[in-house]
Amino acid sequence: MLLTQVSVPQVSVPFSPEQASTFAPHVDALYAYLLLITIFFSTLITLLLVVFAVKYRRRQPDEVPRPISGSMVLELTWTIVPLLIAMTIFVWGASTYFKAYRVPHQAMEVYVVAKQWMWKFQHQTGQREINELHVPVGARVKLTMTTEDVIHSLYVPAFRIKQDVVPGRYTQLWFEATKTGSYYLFCAEYCGTNHSGMGGHVIVMEPTAYEQWLAGGAGAESAAAQGQKLFQERGCASCHQTDPAGQQGRGPTLYGLFGKQQAIEGDGTVAVDESYIRESILDPQAKLALGFQPIMPTFRNQVNEEQILQLIAYIRSLGQPQGGESGGTAQGGGGTTTGPTTGGASPTTERSNPLAPTSPRQGNPSPQLPPRVGQGGAANANRRQ
Ligand code: CUA
Repeated sequence: MLLTQVSVPQVSVPFSPEQASTFAPHVDALYAYLLLITIFFSTLITLLLVVFAVKYRRRQPDEVPRPISGSMVLELTWTIVPLLIAMTIFVWGASTYFKAYRVPHQAMEVYVVAKQWMWKFQHQTGQREINELHVPVGARVKLTMTTEDVIHSLYVPAFRIKQDVVPGRYTQLWFEATKTGSYYLFCAEYCGTNHSGMGGHVIVMEPTAYEQWLAGGAGAESAAAQGQKLFQERGCASCHQTDPAGQQGRGPTLYGLFGKQQAIEGDGTVAVDESYIRESILDPQAKLALGFQPIMPTFRNQVNEEQILQLIAYIRSLGQPQGGESGGTAQGGGGTTTGPTTGGASPTTERSNPLAPTSPRQGNPSPQLPPRVGQGGAANANRRQ
């Protein structure tokens, strides 16, 4: 928008990365504002410095300046004006921050597992990628991220998003790409020898091309289906029921559990979210469901972070209520989910204007593509925060 490039003869010095997400213009506008304030005051102070040095210079060797007494008006002015300017930066900055880090409920979900030194992405439809992430243009994409080893940080300059990826917990990030193309992604946290090589691309595609890309991974099982397989293999099913009619087993019934409040031993309740499920798999006694014996063994070292995410995808697919609170799973509403094409309608069919040209759009802030996966249809109501 502004100040994107400073041109000098022959060489073009990129002043800031290309803007390719709905969020990028907000960051750049704030940055430009800071820059303008800085330029204005630097210039003002430098000019005054020179003017005063000349005007009030000592003219005779024995000159003694007149004493100056304080001025209330002057002091109030130079206190209040900077305060007001600082507050505009604070309010603007805070609102921009919340825009970036408050993840929308309805979004296409992608799981991210970082490890030295690569990025692994898993789509709810089952496709897995390393160091490449394919997404459709104009769709809100939510990344749920963790790492198998040390702290990494996912950074996509063109989207103006960055978030640490921390061992032992999930962090989230979201974006909505506005232009097709290929955009660098980096690890932005020093993580060992090959930190500098830990990068890749986000490839933003037109919805039709994205559909084709998805179809190219035909045969891929959905994340939930992979989780279901694991669930059987690891014997989870011998204690946990997964269908609505089932009796409570030795462990809590998992049907419809995701998104609920679970009463726990000791006191209080805990929200059943990704983090709670992960903790319950790795450290089952940490927050024991009320009324159950502490008999579940830990599955630490038996399932890796990717598999835990698949188990989560499966558990949240069990009896997820319509318009589920936490947004997308590969789930059309109830029952088990298998196959690569379950979930919401395709981007192509639900675009606001399916006949629109498919050339890359430049900086359109409000393309109307509902998430690829994640809800059983009526999803557009709640699109924008
Ligand atoms: Cu991973 Cu730096």
